[in-house]
Formats: sequence, structure tokens, C-alpha cells
Amino acid sequence: MAPPDFANARTRHQKARSAGLHPDYWYPVEWDTAVRTGQVVEIVFWKRSIALFRGEDGVLRAVDDRCAHRQLKLSAGQVKGCNLVCLYHGWEHDGDGKIAHIPHDTFGKQVPKSRITSYPVQVRYGLIWIFPGNPSLAGEKSVPDIPEMDARWPSVPVDATWHGHHSMIIDNVSDFTHAYLHEKYRPFSDPVLTRLESRDDKVFVAYRTKVGGDPKTELVLNPAIDRGSIELCYSYPYQWSDTGGKIKHWCFVLPIDERRTRVFFLFLFAPDAYRLPFTRIRMPLPLVRGMLRLAKRAYILPLLDQDRVAIEAEQEGHERYHDQPIPELNPAVQEFQRLTISKWEEALA
Ligand code: FES
Ligand SMILES: [Fe+2]
Repeated sequence: MAPPDFANARTRHQKARSAGLHPDYWYPVEWDTAVRTGQVVEIVFWKRSIALFRGEDGVLRAVDDRCAHRQLKLSAGQVKGCNLVCLYHGWEHDGDGKIAHIPHDTFGKQVPKSRITSYPVQVRYGLIWIFPGNPSLAGEKSVPDIPEMDARWPSVPVDATWHGHHSMIIDNVSDFTHAYLHEKYRPFSDPVLTRLESRDDKVFVAYRTKVGGDPKTELVLNPAIDRGSIELCYSYPYQWSDTGGKIKHWCFVLPIDERRTRVFFLFLFAPDAYRLPFTRIRMPLPLVRGMLRLAKRAYILPLLDQDRVAIEAEQEGHERYHDQPIPELNPAVQEFQRLTISKWEEALA
């Protein structure tokens, strides 16, 4: 039997694993470079298909992925000028979702006034962000501030689609009790929870732990960085971490449905985070950037793939055994789930 939907979920765990994410936030949906001029792509926010396209003026627009005529997917059509053309009868839709042009005989009738929903779009930090909720709130909500991106810290962008519920990913990135999974890479070891505080739709967590430990990384990491603890935050609906003010990451989840999530990571390293091996000399930035490109392939992606494997196995387990009790030990996980549930209840209300 499939897991219960949110309305029928009984336990906190079942509720967390069936909740969506509140649409009144900005969500990253794609990298800016992935949508070229004249291109349309389909993106999905919690079962809602959206056609994202870039007109010949270079501006991105997002509308519901359905033709105003007969509901075909507009993402299967093409971009003409700054409009999106349906593949069937060629009706053109503009960025506001209005029918801009009908290329065939209209039998003496006016162009229908019906329109499809359009979504606010912006580009920041190399990512395309969409506001899927009430558009009148888009101006008061903002994309999270990442001053390190503005300061051009060396960064490693990663994205993936994982077959797991978004709450499993939030649990995973903030719950360090899974150090066992990463024994091979040791991104953190022997974590002890030292802070857990819920405030204003945020859950703050800290661990005393040893961050890093991979011998190759030790060779080049600046020894002055305090890696004896890490702070993390589930800043709904986003997640970040900070090690000694020098190594940071952001994790953004784009919920597709109950069992699939696209996840975007930005890993950020202070300009003085690395030194030349066996010296105290700061590694030049071009070298840092080149090294990080290698580290992405050799370390970061394989490490994240361990999380993917675990999360996808957890999703499978959840679908089979959702009725079984979960003896959750880490109180932080309970707080993340409470926040996810209460925000989804707020969205449904
Ligand atoms: S179905 Fe799209 S133009 Fe007719
Ligand atoms: Fe992990």
C-alpha cells in the first residue's frame, strides 16, 4: 500500500514525508546558462509543470506548461520572438500568459481572453529562481542573501535529481549522525550536537565535530581555519552550513513530487581557505578554482552520491514500511520535520 497522503498521514514522520513546500518563496529551478535564447524547458514545482523560456531579447519568462487552447504542454512547442508557440495550432502565448496571436482563421471570432498563469522569474548567483506562489508576495520575499557569491568566493555548483522526498534531503544534510555512510571520505567525524534552536521558521543546529579529514584535503587546507565545529541552519525552505566562517554551503531543494526532488548545492570557499602544500603561502585563486574543479569530480560528487544512494533507499523503505514506527534519536530531525509540516499546513490553509 502506498504511503498516506498529507491529509491522511497520522504520524509526524508520515506527515513530513508527504508535505509539499510552501509556494510563497523563491525556488531555484535551473542554472542560468542551461536555458539559451530561444529555448524552452519544462520545470516542475510540486507536481506543477511550468514552461520556462528565454525570448530573443534574452529575458526569461515562465508560464504554466499548458496551451490556453487545449492544454498541450507548451514546453513541447517553440519560442518565437518573445512568445511561446504551441506545437499543435501554433497559438502564441506571451510572458504574461495571454494569447498573443493565432496564426489560423478564427472564423470571425476575437482572440480569446483566457490566459494561463505566469510566474515571477529572476536570476541570481547563476541560478534561475521562480516564485510559484502568490505573485503579489514575490516582491516582499527575496532570494537568500549569499554575500560570498557577490564577493566571488571560489564556489562549486552541483545539482542532481534524487528519487526521494525533499524532507529526506533536509534531514540528511543537517543530521550528522550519518558519518558512518561517509567513512571513506570523512567530511565530518564524531559529531556531538551542541546547539538546537527553533526561531522564526529557522532551525539552528551546531555540532562539535572534526570537519574534513581526507588526507589530500588536509594537505592544502589553511590550518588556521577552525574546523572543530560546524553551524547549520534549516532556513525554510533553504539550508546552509558554515565552518569557521571560511567553508560554507547552501542547499536548495526543488520539490517535484512526493518521491522526487531536484537539489542544488553551492559550496563556497573563502579566498584564503587554501594554501600551497607544505607552505603557509595562500594558494592563488586561479589555482584554487582549478583544484576545486578536480575536487568536484574526485571528492564532492562521489560523496554526494553516497547521500543519494542512502536517500533513495530510504524512500524505497518508506514506501514499503511507512506504517512502521521510526525511533528518531536526533532531536534536530524532529525539529526540521515539525517546521516542514507546519509550513505546509500554513500553505494549505
Ligand atoms: S492545442 Fe495549442 S494551439 Fe491548439
Ligand atoms: Fe551526507
